[in-house]
Amino acid sequence: MLSPQTPPSEPRIGPVGPWRFVSDQRVGSIERIELRELALARDAATIHDWVRRDYARYWGMQGMTCADVRAAYEALTARPSLRALIGLVRAADEAPRPAFLTECYLPICEAFARHYDARDSDRGLHILVAPRPAQPIPGFTRAAFASVLELLFADPAAERIVVEPDVRNHKIRAINRAFGFCELRPIEIEASPAGPAKTAMLSVCTREDLRRAMETLP
Ligand SMILES: CC(C)(COP(=O)(O)OP(=O)(O)OC[C@H]1O[C@@H](n2cnc3c(N)ncnc32)[C@H](O)[C@@H]1OP(=O)(O)O)[C@@H](O)C(=O)NCCC(=O)NCCS
Repeated sequence: MLSPQTPPSEPRIGPVGPWRFVSDQRVGSIERIELRELALARDAATIHDWVRRDYARYWGMQGMTCADVRAAYEALTARPSLRALIGLVRAADEAPRPAFLTECYLPICEAFARHYDARDSDRGLHILVAPRPAQPIPGFTRAAFASVLELLFADPAAERIVVEPDVRNHKIRAINRAFGFCELRPIEIEASPAGPAKTAMLSVCTREDLRRAMETLP
């Protein structure tokens, strides 16, 4: 996650009002994936349950209480350049349920932007999926990830997506590469109130990289 600093006159990501997006992705029994803004009154307990688990160690919130998580997201989402969205999935005859969290942001507003040729047209993302159920859905995480790429590239001004996973986070790095992200180089990201310092793998995906990758994805 990102640092909750708010520079003055920070540019905005996403629409002025609530951001809502219905994705074209389908996977297994899931007929619909929809993204809506994080609503802490509703979602804080769910998010806390996810971030404290071992699989979420690279998210950087593992030791936080529910109140800490809530405060962290209140601060982060006060920034115009960052939006936190919940991915809702719906299987046939079921109510939509929260299945992933994503942070979409403008890399140009982040300290790590000094490590590369950051542009206004870059978009950044982080994704955290719900704990793997007893019967995982093959392709689930890739579908969730694809829905966020779809959301970001739905903005015609977005030219590249930039990610900076912890170098040790091999699961997300494999997913990034599968979607056409090019791993440029490791960079050092400073500690912030939101998380410890990390060595991150700076990775970039253009629309064309994604289009080519989609031709080979299952
Ligand atoms: C990193 C991360 C996205 C990797 O996800 P992943 O590769 O699906 O993880 P797993 O190895 O546990 O998943 C095994 C299988 O279960 C599926 N699965 C995982 N979570 C699931 C869920 N909530 N519902 C249904 N199926 C699920 C996956 O799709 C995968 O199957 P596949 O490879 O056939 O598609 C996930 O571990 C996570 O959210 N970690 C915490 C946040 C994080 O580190 N984010 C990256 C930095 S921004």
